Amino acid sequence: MNILIIGSGGREYSIGLALQKDKNITNIYFAPGNGKSCDLGQNIDIKDLNELANFAKEKDIDLTIVGPEAPLTDGIVDIFEKEGLKIFGPSKEAAKLEGSKAFMKNFLAKNSIPTARYIETSDFEKACEFIESLKEPIVVKADGLCAGKGVIIATSKDEAKDEARRMLSGESFAGAGRKIVVEEFLDGYELSVFAICDGENYKILPAAQDHKRLLDGDKGPNTGGMGAYAPTPLIDDELYKKIEQRVVIPTLKGMKELGTPYKGVLFMGLMIVDGEPIVLEYNVRFGDPECEVLMPLLKSDASELFYKAAVGKLDELNIEFYNKYCVGVVIASENYPYKSSTPSEIIIDEIVDKDIEDNTHISYAGVSKIDGKLFATGGRVLLCIGMGDSIKEARDRAYGLCGQVHFAGKQFRKDIAYQALKV
Ligand code: AMP
Ligand code: GLY
Repeated sequence: MNILIIGSGGREYSIGLALQKDKNITNIYFAPGNGKSCDLGQNIDIKDLNELANFAKEKDIDLTIVGPEAPLTDGIVDIFEKEGLKIFGPSKEAAKLEGSKAFMKNFLAKNSIPTARYIETSDFEKACEFIESLKEPIVVKADGLCAGKGVIIATSKDEAKDEARRMLSGESFAGAGRKIVVEEFLDGYELSVFAICDGENYKILPAAQDHKRLLDGDKGPNTGGMGAYAPTPLIDDELYKKIEQRVVIPTLKGMKELGTPYKGVLFMGLMIVDGEPIVLEYNVRFGDPECEVLMPLLKSDASELFYKAAVGKLDELNIEFYNKYCVGVVIASENYPYKSSTPSEIIIDEIVDKDIEDNTHISYAGVSKIDGKLFATGGRVLLCIGMGDSIKEARDRAYGLCGQVHFAGKQFRKDIAYQALKV
């Protein structure tokens, strides 16, 4: 099979790594890829979605896998399918589950899927009225895509009103905040659960946990995610079952009823409150860094999983995972997430420890190759991934690898998977 992977991050690199081990694969292309994905396949510099479809036809691409949300909400799946190309991801209409928080919240309510109490409005007075009815803290969200930054957790009603005013006036988040969602704060722990869907059938992946804050102990600003691990012990069979019955099945049914069957990865951002799964958000793509710890756990061929999902035949697949744990630690550049940093060369020590060599790898993200040398040029630069028979073993190995990676200003959290080690 020839595969085209859309995106440039660690998520897309990890999908590439999984496909590289896969016996069905002939060629892998990344559009645009990063400074290291060119060692797994070929990077191509095409952004226009119609041109990408032409490229896919020219190169006999059997399957396109879309990493980030932007091409999905821009309709890449509709364009490719119109040309008779196979593509893994939701249609533009179905991608609204992530593209619009108001659409998502209304969908949840309509299908009786548990979520925080909320209103969606463009009216400041209505927002204020609802804010008055809630207890602090209060969550205010911009409707559109804001690269994970459109959620404010206000500690007072005045702050919540002020944020609502700033979003609605366009002062913050420009057009994305002209409509807002105000909702109650949920107090629990977060899980990232992924279902690979083909419109009708689904396969649940091992539950993961992300670490969104920059600093140890979940302090500091929100980021795209500073590390992840899977499977998490914070879930048991009963909770998996509740997630399937109360979230996955009604979501697929609701999307089908809307005439937009959901195909692709359904990423459920859940808050577990007193043992009950409550949907914070959907994303219509893999999480990053969750994908980087899920791909190494996949024993079945990744190509088969994604292909069968794209063609509506997941019911034919028996998906298997390794009975292991995976921990991924993001190494970010100096000024992440505030501003870009000066590019600096990445040096990786020769790995002499056999245990580390055999059980770890790097998933590359914000890197560029310049004159044959690798430079850190993005915010999240790379992830050190460790595998093991326990979370502790996987984590110790991942951190062992972190010590072997060097570039000026590198920063990483030292407590990835801490919630699992408390259990
Ligand atoms: P979202 O983009 O909606 O997932 O929100 C980003 C992050 O904000 C989530 O991962 C949570 O950590 C937090 N968050 C969002 N909504 C709530 C809520 N209703 N209660 C508590 N935390 C929330
Ligand atoms: N790791 C969270 C996300 O990808 O949105």
